[in-house]
Amino acid sequence: MTSSPNAPTRISPTHTIAIYNHKGGVGKTTVSLNLSVCLAAAGYRCLLVDIDPQQSSTTVLSRTGASPNLVDVIRKQAVIEDALHETVVQNLWIIPSTRALTLLETGLDDRVRPNHGLKRYLTFSEDRFDFVVIDCPPAMGLLSLSALIAADSVLIPTTSGAFSIQGVQRTVETVNALRGGLSPGLVVNGILVSLFEGTRRDQQTLKDLGSQFSGLTYRNRIRFDPEILKAEVKRAPSTLFNRATHSTQDYIFLTAELLGRIHRQRRLPDADFSFDAVTQTITETLGKPEFTSVAVDPDADTTGIGNGKPGAGLDGEPDASDRKPAGSKRQLAMAAVIFLAGMLCGGSLATWLGPTALTLFQTAANVN
Ligand SMILES: Nc1ncnc2c1ncn2[C@@H]1O[C@H](COP(=O)(O)OP(=O)(O)O)[C@@H](O)[C@H]1O
Ligand SMILES: [Mg+2]
Repeated sequence: MTSSPNAPTRISPTHTIAIYNHKGGVGKTTVSLNLSVCLAAAGYRCLLVDIDPQQSSTTVLSRTGASPNLVDVIRKQAVIEDALHETVVQNLWIIPSTRALTLLETGLDDRVRPNHGLKRYLTFSEDRFDFVVIDCPPAMGLLSLSALIAADSVLIPTTSGAFSIQGVQRTVETVNALRGGLSPGLVVNGILVSLFEGTRRDQQTLKDLGSQFSGLTYRNRIRFDPEILKAEVKRAPSTLFNRATHSTQDYIFLTAELLGRIHRQRRLPDADFSFDAVTQTITETLGKPEFTSVAVDPDADTTGIGNGKPGAGLDGEPDASDRKPAGSKRQLAMAAVIFLAGMLCGGSLATWLGPTALTLFQTAANVN
């Protein structure tokens, strides 16, 4: 097992977090991936369990069709240790998903016994993992239910709008119902606004969450960031794809806030936890070449991470200064096109367009 140079105090016993909301498209997979990466960067040994048959986390950290997987374990064709796959990130392992997991959902496969099964399979020796993060499918089916039963806490990502709040409400109700029965120790670790644009609707959502679920909503939220969409296309966690972008900063602060909450829930001494030390460790580790072999965004500004401060997401609008200038390559190509167009359209037009092309060539050269 890879050991961390900045090994923090071990989390023991392992803390299992289900990332779940009744509603789809709220950022469950994005949060699962980036939270796992940041926990690993903080020095914790982390396992991401992808139980969504859509396999989104799997395609980023492993490959579809990877085996043995969870279904092989449930069918007793493999043991859980064999289903742990190393990833391209230090300290981070994955149990990949498979489309065969839908068989659990529809109950078509009578060899499979869900519910408490997942909890039993995800029980590891105390020194194996600090954190297990479960990326759940949307909808409260057998898979999500077994994930909640296997978990110590639930992180509920949400976007803004009435339906999202409804989704949060129903998820909290489900957790309360489980606490009264199958999972007495289960807690909501936090509600996270995972795609914050600073609109009036977003601000209203924050207010509503604050009044309905007082103390549960994370102070830090994840701002909308086109880099997350670019990273998705490249099949990379955005915190590795672009370390300097504002959402990476948000994920670092979220991870530190979550660690602080777990620290308090476990009644550990205050002196053992420092928000600033955690964020600094994550920031430094994300920048170490040995931490991952994920290819970074070629356009990314890698001179520093984000421009925020703790709780940077609290002031509303995503900061326009966070957005990177267009890449110099694009400017160079535009200049060449204008210049050629000028040449083709004759001397007088070329004289007119020439200075524009020249300015663009100069700007591109300066950016380089
Ligand atoms: N902060 C963000 N900024 C921009 N896009 C985001 C952000 N968070 C998530 N997304 C995008 O939103 C979509 C839904 O996110 P995803 O994590 O797949 O949700 P879920 O797993 O709940 O279905 C994806 O295309 C993802 O890249
Ligand atoms: Mg998903």
